[in-house]
Amino acid sequence: MIRSMLRLRGERNDLLVLAVEAARGAGEILRAGMKEALDVQYKGDINLVTQVDLASERFIVDLLRSRVPDHGILAEEGSNREGTSAYRWLIDPLDGTTNYAHRFPFFCVSIGLQYEKDMILGVVYDPVRDELFAAARGAGAWCNDRRLAVSATPALATSLLVTGFAYDSRRRDNDNFRHFNNMSRAVQGVRRTGSAALDLCYVAAGRFDGFWELNLSPWDTAAGCVLLEEAGGRITDFRGNPFSPYTPELVASNGRIHDAMLTVLNHDR
Ligand code: IPD
Ligand code: CA
Ligand code: CA
Repeated sequence: MIRSMLRLRGERNDLLVLAVEAARGAGEILRAGMKEALDVQYKGDINLVTQVDLASERFIVDLLRSRVPDHGILAEEGSNREGTSAYRWLIDPLDGTTNYAHRFPFFCVSIGLQYEKDMILGVVYDPVRDELFAAARGAGAWCNDRRLAVSATPALATSLLVTGFAYDSRRRDNDNFRHFNNMSRAVQGVRRTGSAALDLCYVAAGRFDGFWELNLSPWDTAAGCVLLEEAGGRITDFRGNPFSPYTPELVASNGRIHDAMLTVLNHDR
């Protein structure tokens, strides 16, 4: 379905099909894991990992290694490799692990593909709602068979935003609590879902008008930034500079409220 909607040709099409196969297969592992007892380990004070994160990553990485052995891989749970080609996959095998460990049904698989310096493909799969978000640079963004477009909300005062808090927020000086406070007074509402990849997809789908967060990792945002831009949105750092997944802070929006978000985020910074 997605394949025909995106109208890609040749190698790009093959890589999109591969990303979709990887995301759906890993999503199946996440779905099955919801019925299993979880072995929860701590990577930090509140940063969790389960056997399902690891099984999902193993599935994706094994698939990519068998089909595109020369490609580079950067994956959250450590299955990294330098490639010999210009392609690099950025993988979050389970975005929303805290939700998952608590059986709160909001999590996904996120797979982005970089070519040289550019992010060219993004696929995010939500196995709970069976929503497959996919985008290719220059070819649009889709959720299942529906083309995505950001919202038309014109002002911050009527916007619904989303944000998140890094696992080390409690110990950081530059935490997000002050921004949360300031932004909450300027908008209609702020949500915290616990899955940055889905947050970006939801802005792309017009379900949220904007999203900001500090201290994200490349695997959190690699796929979602392609989806957001291909849906007509804008994504920058807190200063309004161009975003890359290697930039830890991001502001994503429908474009119309972007400058107003930057003003609030830079207030008393
Ligand atoms: C986390 C989620 C969360 C965000 C954190 C991320 P994980 O990823 O995306 O929404 O606030 O900063 O680390 O650990 O569930 O893959
Ligand atoms: Ca993540
Ligand atoms: Ca993760």
